[in-house]
Parts: sequence; structure tokens; C-alpha cells
Amino acid sequence: MITLKSPREIKLMRSAGKIVGDLLKVLGELIKPGITTLELDKFAEDFILSRNAKPAFKGYVSAFKKGYPATLCTSVNESVVHEIPSSRVLRNGDIVSVDVGSLYNGYYGDTAYTFPVGEIDAHTQKLVKVTQEALYEGINQARVGNRLSDIGNAVQVCAEKDGFSVVREFTGHGIGAQLHEEPTILNFGPPHRGPRLEAGMTLAIEPMIAVGTWRVRILTDGWTAVTRDGKLCAHFEHTIAITDSNPQILTLPSQ
Ligand code: MF3
Ligand code: CO
Ligand code: CO
Repeated sequence: MITLKSPREIKLMRSAGKIVGDLLKVLGELIKPGITTLELDKFAEDFILSRNAKPAFKGYVSAFKKGYPATLCTSVNESVVHEIPSSRVLRNGDIVSVDVGSLYNGYYGDTAYTFPVGEIDAHTQKLVKVTQEALYEGINQARVGNRLSDIGNAVQVCAEKDGFSVVREFTGHGIGAQLHEEPTILNFGPPHRGPRLEAGMTLAIEPMIAVGTWRVRILTDGWTAVTRDGKLCAHFEHTIAITDSNPQILTLPSQ
């Protein structure tokens, strides 16, 4: 069942969303060659706790998996999602996708952004730009009267026009009083399928776009997903609310 949120609930979700939106903005200033992903994680945990919220991913249990051990997912280069922060040092020319969730006053916010580390080459810049565009193309379909698969179709068309591929194994999701709610939001497929979109739906839209194959494998840590060909992948995510007018992004920074 897809739960519709009241204006009051959407306001609470915006409060949760601002915390992670603000956090990504500050992390963007910290991300430089030489910093470790664990240093970013420590900063993020302190930041979220200082805003009286909880990191949403820490201790998160999914089917067949033990609790996720960190506040952030910091997925570098060929990592697609769920790379656990570690002593890995970020190097000039890397990209790092930072995914973070917060729980505040009973509601979740979930957002991700792919940052360049130092200077990145032109093709990598293109991947990052197109992935962010694909997110916004998807968000732009989150309108009353459209159907769910219009979102994923817009993402796929945007990614494939530049020769990139859409990761299939991971999806976006409904979000609210739970981090992951119905519906599952594919980032690919034909348009005009699935449930009709309604005002009050709150969705986390999160394309993962790869330079080469969309196929992934999971490392022996049980979490980190990497592309099978070792080529780059980028990831952007926003939590949004569908309204009677434009979609509202709930995970933007305060200013
Ligand atoms: N990447 C997931 C999302 O954005 C969250 C992962 S939760 C974790 O929905 F605990 F598995 F990291
Ligand atoms: Co996320
Ligand atoms: Co998500």
C-alpha cells in the first residue's frame, strides 16, 4: 500500500530532509584529495546527532543482511552503492557518491550526491552531470495524473541518450515513517505503467548510472555493490513530495 502523507507530515519530512541536505552541502566542502571516507562518516554522524536526529542507515537490517555499520554510504568510482566508510583515502580524479538518511520526529529523509575529488576528467564530469539530470528528469514526472513508471522511463531515456546504462538491481522507493516504503521505483522501463501518482505521495528517487555495464556484484563485506566491469558509476537521490502543483524536493539544504 502506498501511504499518502498529510501536509503536516510532509512538513516533518522536510525537516528531516533539510538535515541531510545541509549535511551534503558541508561534506562537499570537506571532500578533497587525502580525506578518508571514515573521516567523512564521523563528521556526518556528529552533524546528524547535533541536529537531534538519528542516522537512518546505521543498524539498518535488510533481508539476509546484518545491520549496516555506518551513517554514510561512500561509494567510490566503480562502487555503485553501499560502500562502507573505511580508511580508504580519496584521491585526485576519484568520484564519491555519498548517500545519507536521517530520522527526525518520526520521519525519514534520504538523499545522495556524487562529488568530484579534486579534478576529474571530462568523461567523468559528463557521467556525473547526466546522472544528476536523470534524477531531475525523473522528479519532473512526479506529477498527479502521471503513472509510476513515467519516472523510471524519464531516467532511462536521459541516461541512455548519452550512451550510459541504468543500474537495474537497485531502485528508488516510497519513504515516510519508514525509510523504505511502497512503491518500488524502477529507474528504467516503459512509460504509462503502474499506479497513478497522487498528491501526498512521498518518494525517494535515486538513479544509479554507469559508464559501461549495468550489472553489479557484491563484495565479500556483504554490502558494497560494484560494477562488474569495474567502470565508473554515479548516484544522485532526493526525497520528494507529489503535490497538486510542482513536485517538492524535501532534501534541499536550508539555503
Ligand atoms: N541506498 C539506500 C537508499 O538510498 C539506503 C541504504 S540503507 C543501508 O535507499 F543501510 F543499507 F545502507
Ligand atoms: Co539514499
Ligand atoms: Co533511498
